[in-house]
Amino acid sequence: MMRFTADVRSQAKSLALVPTMGALHEGHLSLVRQAKEECNVAVVSIFVNPTQFGPSEDFARYPRSPEKDLEILEILEVEAVFAPSSREIYPPVCTTSVDPGHIATVFEGAKRPGHFRGVATVVLKLFNIVRPDVAFFGQKDFQQAVVIRRLVEDLNLPVRIALCPIVREADGLAKSSRNVYLNAEDRKAALVLSRSLKRAEELARAGEGDAEKLLEEMRKTFDEEPRAQLDYTAIVNPTTLEPVAQVNPGSVALVAARLGTVRLIDNLIFGPPGSTPELRLQLALGA
Ligand code: PAJ
Repeated sequence: MMRFTADVRSQAKSLALVPTMGALHEGHLSLVRQAKEECNVAVVSIFVNPTQFGPSEDFARYPRSPEKDLEILEILEVEAVFAPSSREIYPPVCTTSVDPGHIATVFEGAKRPGHFRGVATVVLKLFNIVRPDVAFFGQKDFQQAVVIRRLVEDLNLPVRIALCPIVREADGLAKSSRNVYLNAEDRKAALVLSRSLKRAEELARAGEGDAEKLLEEMRKTFDEEPRAQLDYTAIVNPTTLEPVAQVNPGSVALVAARLGTVRLIDNLIFGPPGSTPELRLQLALGA
């Protein structure tokens, strides 16, 4: 892979990286399409990264579909796929990791200790192997995107981070590789995440700017769906992830909940009425 990308650079072509854990769905493919549009050459990595899974999490049973993924990426005319083994990425002698600091300890980081250390470490390794001009990530994992942007800024990495809006199922559920774990009833109940965000957006649009009021309504939405257990909901500043008292354009509502043993996350960026997802991302990230 290093030889391949050195060759791309020597031809003065722009290079995109889309890091994934495979089991590709439309959310991933939106990143790949954007990468193809913005750069001459697109590399997709597929690596189910063991260090970002906790000991009691789903690493072993995480969905894997390597042949299907390759077929899809061939149809999308991706120039290269990087699918290393665990031993290649983490040889037994490997001891170094990246600590993203405070932002890795809240929300998902509080529920999943060590998760963002694993993410930041593998993403830095992928950046060093591929050395992309632009790397593409999804808004779906908003806190992850914030962690990666901090990583790039704090460690002066020569890569631009591009974010793509959340791709949803027709009924509003954010696409996720983990949705396949949901049984029929939990699949229906899972709509409570996007419904609670929609409710917050409606109220904000009607003029409610008090974050606590919006959060109350979101919690009420969850009260009406006993199958779902709310882990957290918060409205935060998009850079610091600190809770805000007042909702502004660019503020982000985060939600995480469990349906049985399946944990799902979703989020919403507040924006002016009728604003596109891309504009909202710009508002949140000042891009
Ligand atoms: P994975 O969950 O496979 O996701 C790969 C990328 O696809 C992430 O940037 C994620 O935010 C994006 N994505 C997932 N679902 C999406 C959706 N519904 N709409 C838009 N984008 C979506 O995130 C990871 O892998 C890993 O943590 C990784 C960054 C690869 C490091 O191991």
